[in-house]
Amino acid sequence: MKIITARTKQKKYPVYINVDFNSFFPQIVNKEFRDSEKVILITNNKVFSIYEEKIKSALEKCLKLSEIIIIQDGEEYKNLESTDYIYSRLIDFNAHRNDVIVAFGGGVIGDLGGFAASTFNRGMKFIQCPTTIISQVDSSIGGKVGVNYRKVKNIIGSFYQPDAVIIDPVFNYTLDDEQIINGLGEIVKYGLVFDKSILDKLLKNATGDSKNKPGELIKAEDFKDIIYRCCKIKTKVVRKDEFDTGYRNLLNFGHTIGHCIENAFNLKEISHGKAVSIGMIIAIDISISLGFLKEDFKEKIIELYKMLGLPYKMPEIDAGKIIDVIKYDKKFKSTQNKFVLLKGMNKPLFYYNLDEDTIIDNIKKSMYN
Ligand code: NAD
Ligand code: GLY
Repeated sequence: MKIITARTKQKKYPVYINVDFNSFFPQIVNKEFRDSEKVILITNNKVFSIYEEKIKSALEKCLKLSEIIIIQDGEEYKNLESTDYIYSRLIDFNAHRNDVIVAFGGGVIGDLGGFAASTFNRGMKFIQCPTTIISQVDSSIGGKVGVNYRKVKNIIGSFYQPDAVIIDPVFNYTLDDEQIINGLGEIVKYGLVFDKSILDKLLKNATGDSKNKPGELIKAEDFKDIIYRCCKIKTKVVRKDEFDTGYRNLLNFGHTIGHCIENAFNLKEISHGKAVSIGMIIAIDISISLGFLKEDFKEKIIELYKMLGLPYKMPEIDAGKIIDVIKYDKKFKSTQNKFVLLKGMNKPLFYYNLDEDTIIDNIKKSMYN
């Protein structure tokens, strides 16, 4: 097991990595959450159907009253209706501020459960138990919690740091290939922007077969270390810029265009991770066209993508449609766009007011190259 201490203005909290959930969770609850009378675990129906036994057995060992709240699986349930349902269950359970809410699931459950925890009783104790790669390396750390509203992603929310994050990499073994690819895309982002050794480890463990069997890659011993390195980066970034006023935007590498690709494809025809993977290639292309990078940089990254089975070509679409979405991106000020580009490996830069032609040319390039 490894422990990273996340230090924020709100809280200092441990991120436990490579633990066995079944034995570790009750141990931590009984030791660190002694004052809590109840443990209330929030999950979704899909995760519950896979892990019902494990969840119940861990809760039993907590020697406290315990309750389980089950939400429907899917991004479309990350909303105020689900929040309302959680509040009503918490009232039924007579939940007090000192009781502990546990988000057990992927980023959707972490964001939703965290939002409920941050607002019910003006803030409950909160543990994140992330069960997808994306939630383990990204969303469970850093306190961004919230829900979607009227089809706008994450538009209602707050910063609410958890009291602990518990990461058992074995949960990833039941993810389907699509979810693994989504997670690998985020990991490549950390490698490109912050720590090249992550890419080296991915490459070392990616046999040519990884694109057919991504499940094998995530079982490699090195993968545990990759998760650890990503968590270390995330905690450092959050420490520097907890409230996302500047530096934390670096985590958006590939996401600006990625989100627009997702939206242009109606948030369902292309997954988040795939859109971000393509978005990173477009950000590299833009960096090349502005003279920050050389073409051979991209060639090496495409080789890595091929080994991992990540998509690097944009499905055909009218590039103007993506530009339209960029204009409404909530991260931009009304008159200014801001992109994260690269001027070398682990050398990110912010670029402001990128002109439309450069964006359109590079989106087209990624369709036909
Ligand atoms: P998700 O929570 O929807 O999980 C993806 C799918 O995997 C779901 O069907 C889920 O039920 C299933 N699943 C979860 N754990 C599983 C397991 N162990 N085995 C099998 N299936 C499992 O999505 P995600 O990719 O984990 O996260 C994406 C969400 O996270 C988005 O809502 C995004 O906005 C949010 N997010 C938040 C932050 C943040 O900083 N708060 C960062 C990144 C992403
Ligand atoms: N996942 C982006 C952030 O935490 O800022």
